[in-house]
Amino acid sequence: MEALFQTKRMIALPAEAKDIPFIIYMENDPANRNFIWQGTEEQHRAEIADPAHILAVFRGEDGRNIGYMLCHLDRKSEVFELRRIAIDAKGQGYGREAMEGTMRFAFETLRMNRFWLDVYPDNAVGIRLYKSLGMHRDGMLRQSYKSERGYLDQIIYSMLKGEYFARSSAVPEADWLLWKQKAPQSLETERLLLRRVTEADFEKVHSVLGDPEVMYAWEHGFSEEETRAWIAQTLARYEEDGFGHYAVEVRETGEFVGVIGLIREKLCGYPLLGIGWMLCKACWGNGYATEAAGAVIRDAFDHLHVKEILADIRPENTASRRLAERLGMKAKYEIVKRYRGKDMVHIVYVIKADLSDKK
Ligand SMILES: CC(C)(COP(=O)(O)OP(=O)(O)OC[C@H]1O[C@@H](n2cnc3c(N)ncnc32)[C@H](O)[C@@H]1OP(=O)(O)O)[C@@H](O)C(=O)NCCC(=O)NCCS
Repeated sequence: MEALFQTKRMIALPAEAKDIPFIIYMENDPANRNFIWQGTEEQHRAEIADPAHILAVFRGEDGRNIGYMLCHLDRKSEVFELRRIAIDAKGQGYGREAMEGTMRFAFETLRMNRFWLDVYPDNAVGIRLYKSLGMHRDGMLRQSYKSERGYLDQIIYSMLKGEYFARSSAVPEADWLLWKQKAPQSLETERLLLRRVTEADFEKVHSVLGDPEVMYAWEHGFSEEETRAWIAQTLARYEEDGFGHYAVEVRETGEFVGVIGLIREKLCGYPLLGIGWMLCKACWGNGYATEAAGAVIRDAFDHLHVKEILADIRPENTASRRLAERLGMKAKYEIVKRYRGKDMVHIVYVIKADLSDKK
C-alpha cells in the first residue's frame, strides 16, 4: 500500500479491511469515545471503498499502529473535512505530528482550499492543539449533536490554503530586528543606482504612481495626496523596518526608473517579507526591473540571510508575473485580498534562498 504521507515518526497508510478492528478499538476506547464518533465495521468498509472518504492509519517505524484518521473530501469546493482523528499513545507529540502531516497532505498534495474540523468544547487537548497550529475558530454550532452525554455544542476550526502557506513563511521577530540593523541604504548594479526615496522625489515618484497603467494592480493611478502618503509610508518603513522601496535611477544619466524594494507585509495575518516594484512605463523593456529586483533579492539572501521572499501579483498582471518568473520566483498559491471594498485574487510567488543559490 502506498503511503498517503510521511512524518518524522509515522507513515499514513490508506486503511485496509484488516485495520478496521484497530479503528473500532480506537473509537470505543474510553479515552477517545467522548470526543469522536463510533463507526460500524460496515460503515468503515464503505469509507474505504468510497473515493470521497479517506480512512487512514498512522503507523510507526516498528509497524505498530499509532492512531487513525477519517476525512471527507469535497473536491468541487476543494474542502477537506477532518472527521475523526485519534492517537493511541497520547501526549507524546504524535497528535501534532499527525495534524501537521494531514494538513500538508490536504494543501500540498490534494491542493485543497479549506481544511476544517469540529471539536466539542470540553476537548481541551484537541482545542489547544488546533489553536497552536494556527487554525481559525469559525464559530460554534450550538447543541448540534445529541450523544450519550446529552446535547453537545460543536466548535468549528478551519484553515485556508493561503493561511497554511503564509504560516510556513512567517518571519520571526528576531529576523526583523537583524534586518533592520543590516539593510543597506543603497545598492548599485551595472547600470542602476538604488537609493532611499526622499520627499524631494515627489514629482518623479508621482510620475510613476500616478499612472493608472503602472498601477494596474490597484486599479487606479494615485492622486497627489496618495503619492505623498506613499512616500510618508516609505520613510516610516525605513525608520521602523530599516528598509522599504528604493528609488531606482540610471547611473549614467540620473534618469528615474521607478521604485523597487523589500517590504514587510502581512499576508493572512502572518508577517512576511515581500518585494514590490513600480516602474515608469517609458522604462519598460530595458531589463531594469530584472536588474534592480535581482540585486535586491541577491543582497537579501547573501547579506541579510533572508530565507524566502514573496510577491503577490494579480493573475492578469502579465508584466509583473513575467518579471517574477524571470527572477526565479515560483507561483505557489492564491489568496484573496480586499482592497477598497473589492476582493481581488492574487497569486503568491515565492523565491527561496536555497533555490537561488543553485543558480
Ligand atoms: C487530540 C489528540 C489527537 C492529540 O494527540 P496527542 O498525541 O495526545 O497530542 P500531542 O502530544 O501531539 O499534543 C498536542 C498538544 O496538546 C497538549 N496536551 C497533550 N496532552 C495533554 C493533556 N493531557 N492536557 C493538556 N494538554 C495536553 C500538548 O501539550 C500539546 O500542546 P503544546 O505542543 O502546545 O504543548 C489525542 O489526544 C486524542 O486521540 N484524543 C482523543 C480523540 C480526540 O479528541 N480527537 C479529536 C476530535 S476533534
